[in-house]
Amino acid sequence: MTSSSPDRPNLKPLRATFGAIAIRVRPLVLRLGLTMIASALASSPVPAIASVTSPASDPQPVRANTGMVTAAHPLASQAGVRILQAGGHAIDAAIATALAISVLEPYSAGIGGGGFLLIYDADTREIRSLDFRERAPIAATSEMYLDADGVPTTDSRSGHRAVAVPGTVAGLYEAHQRYGQLPWAEVVQPAIELAATGFEVGDRWVQSLNWRASTLLSNPAARAVFSREGTGETPQLYGLGDRFIQSDLAATLRRLAVDPEDFYHGQTAAAIVADMAANGGLMTQADLEQYEPIWRDPVCGLFQPQRANPEQFRVCAMAPPSSGGVHLLQMLTLLEPFDLAHQSATQQQHLLIEAMKIAYADRAYYLGDPDFVAVPVAELVSSAYLDRRRADIEPDRARSAAEVQAADPALLRRITMESRDTSHLSVVDGNRNAVSLTFTVNGGFGAGIVAAGTGIVLNNEMDDFSIAPGVPNLYGLIGGAANAIAARKTPLSSMTPTIVTDTDANLRLVVGSPGGSTIITTVVQILLNALVYDQNVATAIAAPRLHHQWQPDSLRLEANFDPAIVRDLQALGHSLVTGGQWGNASAIEVIPANATQGSEPFTDYLEGATDPRGQGLTQGF
Ligand code: DON
Repeated sequence: MTSSSPDRPNLKPLRATFGAIAIRVRPLVLRLGLTMIASALASSPVPAIASVTSPASDPQPVRANTGMVTAAHPLASQAGVRILQAGGHAIDAAIATALAISVLEPYSAGIGGGGFLLIYDADTREIRSLDFRERAPIAATSEMYLDADGVPTTDSRSGHRAVAVPGTVAGLYEAHQRYGQLPWAEVVQPAIELAATGFEVGDRWVQSLNWRASTLLSNPAARAVFSREGTGETPQLYGLGDRFIQSDLAATLRRLAVDPEDFYHGQTAAAIVADMAANGGLMTQADLEQYEPIWRDPVCGLFQPQRANPEQFRVCAMAPPSSGGVHLLQMLTLLEPFDLAHQSATQQQHLLIEAMKIAYADRAYYLGDPDFVAVPVAELVSSAYLDRRRADIEPDRARSAAEVQAADPALLRRITMESRDTSHLSVVDGNRNAVSLTFTVNGGFGAGIVAAGTGIVLNNEMDDFSIAPGVPNLYGLIGGAANAIAARKTPLSSMTPTIVTDTDANLRLVVGSPGGSTIITTVVQILLNALVYDQNVATAIAAPRLHHQWQPDSLRLEANFDPAIVRDLQALGHSLVTGGQWGNASAIEVIPANATQGSEPFTDYLEGATDPRGQGLTQGF
């Protein structure tokens, strides 16, 4: 396990705008008032600060002065806070939280998977990002999931052939080596305890298990872990309230606490490789040995919402091989000039949907692993390009997916400047270092298999490649050559860990979410809610979501969307499906010291929230 040499993020000189002047006046009464006015005017053409949230709810964030962790499971947040309180850096807490999630939520993310993190370093005021996403095994080929007739098989989703080389351990260790302040073994310890002494499983855990039960039960190693009778004749899955102890995983974590290289070179590696060889998997010892996490420049852009009290933000998110950052910035830039806060709620959503279609059309064509294909990132996020694309948006009509194609490469060339699965966690420490980390095993319980003897649930990240042109992945996303399978290539992701600063590089917001293809649109809606509509993070996260990913040409709206807006969107020609919910976002906002509340000055403090759609916890101190 080695890592490439870190590159400094290519930060452009920051343009100071507001310096030390007061920038935020957001007393509670104002928020309540706006929400109520907004909903009264929801379908009115009268300009108003509008909202899609129901007036009944005004969720409040958790507040804390020193440090905070948000994660998808309460015990994981507590593990992170314990590390912060022991004097750990944000990265120490993020690692402890991520490893705890690996134990607590084997269906969402873990050491058998991979992910991305952004880190804000309070000393240098720089944001760097680490790619610890899985890579295709050396033996992978572009047509490996097509049968003799060229028909896609299901091998990319379940079983040993679906597994890409995991990066979580290498990535977390690399980040620790750069930034960690507490000993590695100390940050691994909470996860060891959770695996060894167990925890009570909740409804979310049980639902996830039942959903993937048939696959898990058909793999003897997974069956031994997830059924109480283990390998017995009539397996009985763990149920609500049962204590779930993972002895093999605890032993694996103990080895990793002593030597994280064990995952790639030692006993753990040998067990994974043997399991692969015995079951037709592609991953070999060479794959594990050659795994490298990669420091990459995040993709950053300035965003200036049109508001009475204008403030410019610098939004940084994950660059390729995640598509998240590129398309987050595309959507924000497309929307920036529209003065959203003074549009009707329907118009706000319509413009957002049209921006989503443009972004996801480009995703399908251009995005892939930048170490294998040239991804025109600068061009795709450039104003010159997006100004052209924005001009195509029609304010009073939904364009069909057929009308919205990926950018003409010639146009780009001319512009020369230029759920349940997956888990996000956010950490801010007392020095205002921050980590935004999203990681995954992809689909629920990944490939549905456990590497025998390790307790490790292995990912099915290979399904994030484009299996063949136009063949949708688990999330209905299609892609082309840019995201075709190749040896050692990284499958394209939508994970969007994001950090926002002001233009003086002061930390302002840490945010992210799971949700497959919906991750990017979830993050963009949270950012719009917080930065444009001035909602606190709890309200911004709780607000009903919509999603359009260009193909399929269908707008998805969560069940609790305001019916008046739904009706109006239909009238504009959007073909829509309502129902369900997605994402499990969390965020921490720094309320700056130079904000004012009445005439009372105060030091900065933190407001954090997890998603009401999930069962996470925000804990601060
Ligand atoms: O990297 C990606 O985009 C996907 N593998 C993430 C999967 C995910 O978020 C599943 N969550 N519901």
